[in-house]
Amino acid sequence: MSETAVQLTGVTKTYATGTSWLARLTRRRAATLTAVDGVDLELRRGEVLALVGESGSGKSTLAKILVGSTSPTTGTVEPTGRGKAAARRVQMVFQDPYSSLNPRLTVGAVLAELLRLHDVVPRAEVRADCERLVNLVGLEADVLDAYPSQFSGGQRQRLAIARALAVRPDVLVADEPVSALDVSVQATVLDLIARLRAELGLSVLFIAHNLAVVQHLADRVAVMYLGRVVEVAPTAELFASPRHPYTRALIDSIPRMTAGSVNDDFELDGEPPSPYDVPAGCRFHPRCPLATDECRATDPPLLEVGPARESACLHADQLATLPLPEPEHAPEPLEPQR
Ligand SMILES: Nc1ncnc2c1ncn2[C@@H]1O[C@H](COP(=O)(O)OP(=O)(O)O)[C@@H](O)[C@H]1O
Ligand code: SF4
Ligand SMILES: [Mg+2]
Repeated sequence: MSETAVQLTGVTKTYATGTSWLARLTRRRAATLTAVDGVDLELRRGEVLALVGESGSGKSTLAKILVGSTSPTTGTVEPTGRGKAAARRVQMVFQDPYSSLNPRLTVGAVLAELLRLHDVVPRAEVRADCERLVNLVGLEADVLDAYPSQFSGGQRQRLAIARALAVRPDVLVADEPVSALDVSVQATVLDLIARLRAELGLSVLFIAHNLAVVQHLADRVAVMYLGRVVEVAPTAELFASPRHPYTRALIDSIPRMTAGSVNDDFELDGEPPSPYDVPAGCRFHPRCPLATDECRATDPPLLEVGPARESACLHADQLATLPLPEPEHAPEPLEPQR
């Protein structure tokens, strides 16, 4: 049995909006938005768990709850993120490498300040530890005397990772850390995260809006839709045989080298519904090609659908029998579908 690094249980986060004076002045209706809606999720020790879903599905909110920078409206995070030691245990890397480092401080000053603030190493060893940290993320010691503006996006993201590692966390939450980077640079940052996980035994929650990014990095994938986790599975199994139509749609939307999609039944139309007004029954039903009357009436919970696999689809079994496009997304020509 693998150990648990962090366990989220029944986590919900709602925001009351339209209550400010400005909103009242412009007669906006006060309303409650449910950003995260009853999520149970385990991050296991030493794994890379990917959290994937469209923009607005609640990924960043869940990440903030996990690192303790916002508290859930209901539900629990264990072990609890209170106190200085607990705050150090879980560290976050953000999407935007340009705003995540203080432009007025050298890299060395940023790292040294953290090491001193948290008493990570004896004062005499601070400089050496700064060098160790930048080496760990694949940079030379001379970067310590430079300012953030002197680095490319990819280098800044390495530095943001070094900063997160300064306080010796055992959990790293990376919120779309490669989304703002050039495609050619993305792979190098993904490789770095994979290497750090192996070398340091980190547990990683890796957030992405695109499944392709996590295919070779994650051990498991949790798919989020409108505040809910709708499928969890080991990565290879998820790609080979998704058990939720939304996962299937995300897989089918991965750009292929060959022209034309093999099956556009699952193509996602338009934007997801508003989190102010979540559809009744299965929240995916307005976009789901398999929706039935039962789907419009029943809100399906996340249930086990196989060893280590969970799905919140009433017709998960039916989906298992549908043919998939090339499971490896190889650039060879695809077989025509019958
Ligand atoms: N501080 C906030 N106040 C009000 N609404 C918020 C706040 N933070 C996030 N939301 C809303 O919660 C939903 C989920 O947002 P987020 O967690 O950022 O999703 P994602 O990271 O998947 O794009 C969105 O509809 C977003 O507008
Ligand atoms: S429960 Fe029904 S509407 Fe929801 S994802 Fe499954 S088939 Fe689609
Ligand atoms: Mg986000």
